Order: sequence, then structure tokens, then C-alpha cells
Amino acid sequence: MPNLWSQWCAACHGPALEGRYGPPLSGPRFLARWGGESGEALWRFIQARMPLGQVGVLKVQEIWPLVALILQANGVALTDPVPPLLAVTRLPKP
Ligand code: HEC
Repeated sequence: MPNLWSQWCAACHGPALEGRYGPPLSGPRFLARWGGESGEALWRFIQARMPLGQVGVLKVQEIWPLVALILQANGVALTDPVPPLLAVTRLPKP
């Protein structure tokens, strides 16, 4: 599990993105809301809203690995996880 996830996200969303205080970021419940959305949409949401109560602690370039993690946790195969490709990659529709 990437360090950034353990440091800033896991306490609320669970070590395996399964959800705790915060909602799960993988699986059917997440995809019911986010299925079909792009990596860029995820990036924007995280940048504007997360970590809850501490917006701004993440550097701009630190958000992309978190987007990659969420895409992968929802079954997206990432061969080349560079930001321009992550931005246009979409979460599967449930
Ligand atoms: C203090 C607890 C907390 C932390 C820390 C936190 N989140 Fe959240 N997160 C929430 C809650 C609560 C929601 C649902 C309410 C909302 O959308 O604001 C949420 C919603 C989300 C969503 C949208 C989920 C949905 O179903 O729409 C994403 C994506 C997300 N968080 C990503 C992250 C990432 C990435 C991090 C780490 C950088 C993070 N969160 C850190 C509490 C947290």
C-alpha cells in the first residue's frame, strides 16, 4: 500500500479502500456513484475535498498515485500510470 494512502486516507477509507468512517473507494457502492467517471474527475474531487478536514496537505503531484490506486482497486489495469493517461482513464460502470 502506498505510503500516501496510509498517511492521509487509510484512517477514514480503510487500508484496503474498504471504507470505515468514510465510504468505500472500491466495489459496487463506490462504482454506483463513480462508475464511468474519469481519473481527472477523481483528481479534482480529491484536490478540492480530501483529506477531509485537511484539504491542501497533498502536493499536486501526490494526488495522481492516489487516483491510480483507486482505479486499480476497482479493476482497472494500468500499464503506464502517468498523469495524462490516468486523467482520461475511466472507472468501470457497474
Ligand atoms: C477524516 C476522514 C477522511 C479522510 C482522512 C479522507 N477522507 Fe475521503 N471521504 C471522507 C468522507 C466522510 C467522505 C464522504 C463525504 C464527502 O464526499 O465529503 C469522503 C469521500 C471521498 C471520496 C468520494 C467517495 C464517494 O463515494 O463519492 C473520495 C474519492 C475520497 N474521499 C478520497 C479520499 C482520499 C484519496 C483521501 C486521502 C488523501 C481521503 N479521501 C481522506 C472522509 C475522509
